[in-house]
Amino acid sequence: MSNVIIVGAQWGDEGKGKVVDIYTEYADAVIRYQGGNNAGHTVIVKNEQFVLHLIPSGILHDGKTCIIGNGVVIDPKVLLEEIDALKERGYMKDDTRFVISDRAHLIMPYHKKIDIARELIRGEAKIGTTGRGIGPCYEDKCTRSGIRIAEFVDKELFAEKLKANIDMKNRYLTEFLGGSPCNFDEIYSEYSAYADRIRGYVANSSLLIEEFMDEGKSILFEGAQGSMLDVDHGTYPFVTSSNTVAGGSCSGTGIGPTKMDEVIGITKAYTTRVGSGPFPTELDCDMGESLRKNGGEFGATTGRPRRCGWFDTVLVKDAARTNGLTGIALTKLDVLTGIDKIKICTSYKLDGKTLKAVPANLRQLERVELVYEELDGWKEDITHIREFGDLPENAQRYVERIEELVGVEIVMVSVGQKRDENIVIKNPFA
Ligand code: GDP
Ligand code: IMO
Ligand code: MG
Repeated sequence: MSNVIIVGAQWGDEGKGKVVDIYTEYADAVIRYQGGNNAGHTVIVKNEQFVLHLIPSGILHDGKTCIIGNGVVIDPKVLLEEIDALKERGYMKDDTRFVISDRAHLIMPYHKKIDIARELIRGEAKIGTTGRGIGPCYEDKCTRSGIRIAEFVDKELFAEKLKANIDMKNRYLTEFLGGSPCNFDEIYSEYSAYADRIRGYVANSSLLIEEFMDEGKSILFEGAQGSMLDVDHGTYPFVTSSNTVAGGSCSGTGIGPTKMDEVIGITKAYTTRVGSGPFPTELDCDMGESLRKNGGEFGATTGRPRRCGWFDTVLVKDAARTNGLTGIALTKLDVLTGIDKIKICTSYKLDGKTLKAVPANLRQLERVELVYEELDGWKEDITHIREFGDLPENAQRYVERIEELVGVEIVMVSVGQKRDENIVIKNPFA
């Protein structure tokens, strides 16, 4: 039995979906613990592509329980569309194996309106959110006015809470943001129908996981976004509104930290970011363009081109600390094939001094001087390689150098999009 947390170690889109799908084979249940449908987790099975936004990426395996934890914010319309699409493609046959926490919060149409309107007002200073209402929903959770799933599926309570929220939000939307108001009757009738379809999946998922653990079952905790998007430890304010680091898996599921065994950081062999905010190793040149093209670096949720740059040791070392990483799954190594000289940023200097971590002050982060190391690349196709020792020597050296610089063991190297395109060094469930 082993309980393993998967986190993104950069700015998201590191390949968490692919790794969760692989590790699901060894787990009995997979649980998402934060974020919402701002996430886009891609899994490719037998040339078929699935992009999961809310449902755990373990859903493509039969016989596993998939859970949406209390820390997740749920847009019920998107969730139901996702369920329908998966059912249509022959998955999710057993409804007893999908569970939604009764304590998760609901994303409502006014959250999306507020998200979009505020980004417009911010103009140049916009965060570049996904526009899915994530921030406004987490705000309501913290100000104690949000609607939880347990209330959503109780018709009377839902009407009461929705009424109070719409009164308040309409004032904010119209008087402050200059937007259009929401209509209670329309929303209530549409969303009550969603509640009717969701009710059967709702449970106290913390209790359920405890039962699984008592039975000796293994649980996989699936993080969304990445450590640099964490609301406390990321490049604030250019972050998302939840704790994406491994600690979020405890508060976001109702399971204590003493139950966790391993924390695997999913880390791209280079760096990408979607949305605004500082990105020290960004390559605003042909090399960046070629990483984007070769890596297919376009957002799985919004389709936006991802900004691309060299591997940044400082970011990943930060993630190693803030998550307590016990291992790294290094993804997309194949994308670097064919590059003559590959750079790694080894440290940041500010006013001549080497920094120990990413500075909290973004003005300082914008001013850091980057110290790079250059490694020789390789030309051979590596997607078919399954043993570390069979990789071209320079590819081995690149992986080993990252391991040495970050100080965390690399337990998997992913060399392609497909389920089997990996080099497994160590199984965290073993
Ligand atoms: P996530 O949000 O962390 O799950 O990552 P995304 O799914 O948003 O983005 C990762 C993209 O990289 C997806 O298109 C994956 O299919 C793809 N991918 C994952 N691992 C690899 C790999 O090792 N090589 C290549 N070429 N693509 C990969
Ligand atoms: P996965 O799970 C990459 C980014 C947005 C924006 C910022 C805030 O697929 O790795 P939000 O809508 O959350 O308020 O936007 O966070 N962002 C992501 N970037 N991958 C994600 O998820 C992301 N989820 C949010 O682009 O910069
Ligand atoms: Mg993604």
